[in-house]
Amino acid sequence: MPEISGFSCTACGDIGGKYEIINGGYISWTPCPHCANIRKGFYLLKKSGLADKTFDSFKTAAEWQKGLLGKVSAYTSSEDSWLYMGGQSGCGKTHLCTAAVRELILSKNVSARLFKWVEDARLLKALANDSSYISEIDRFRTATILYIDDLFKGGVTAADLKLAYDILDYRYRHNLRTIISSEMFLDEIIGKDEALGGRIKEMSEDFSLNITRDKGKNYRL
Ligand SMILES: Nc1ncnc2c1ncn2[C@@H]1O[C@H](COP(=O)(O)OP(=O)(O)OP(=O)(O)O)[C@@H](O)[C@H]1O
Ligand SMILES: [Mg+2]
Ligand SMILES: [Zn+2]
Repeated sequence: MPEISGFSCTACGDIGGKYEIINGGYISWTPCPHCANIRKGFYLLKKSGLADKTFDSFKTAAEWQKGLLGKVSAYTSSEDSWLYMGGQSGCGKTHLCTAAVRELILSKNVSARLFKWVEDARLLKALANDSSYISEIDRFRTATILYIDDLFKGGVTAADLKLAYDILDYRYRHNLRTIISSEMFLDEIIGKDEALGGRIKEMSEDFSLNITRDKGKNYRL
């Protein structure tokens, strides 16, 4: 169970659950109701190398950064379902979306799943005609919180649109919290596929953030 800086659980002493010896000498493990989901969420973030991105470490030298940080942190305390961040590469989309996932895991005591488009879409598209496809895609369709990082990075084929629709339509119908970052503006996605883009637009309402392309906004440079 990963340690989580700034978080500790008095119910289980940060063990994440408890072991008991039950009838016949079997050992049973009961996850802690106060923190097991949180620890699982952080484990998944850490595995993706994203655990260290927080709101506190997001610098706001420019007004547009202040605006973005304000919006994304407001999203984490709203009941609104989806967050969309599109546009300029390197402007902090993955950083802020990860920080939002982190806040939601902690405040709602839930786990979250990450869908790294570049890696996970390739795997799922390769399984499209395989019997394991449904169980693999269901891990993402049904997650309490899903963060799709870099949606449509690398181009948009018909297979990409179908995969995104398969995941997002399910989440739309079940009103499941979803966070998306992409180099595409939402309008560009709507231009490619109205049914898909329209669903994202409807679900993200006030939290569709599209950052104009401007190399000066690329933190990496
Ligand atoms: N305002 C900021 N304060 C501190 N670090 C930042 C800030 N903006 C970006 N970074 C850092 O710069 C790097 C690039 O940011 P990030 O990965 O969030 O960009 P992105 O918008 O997701 O880009 P891409 O579209 O290429 O994926 C990351 O290491 C991130 O932590
Ligand atoms: Mg990114
Ligand atoms: Zn606990």
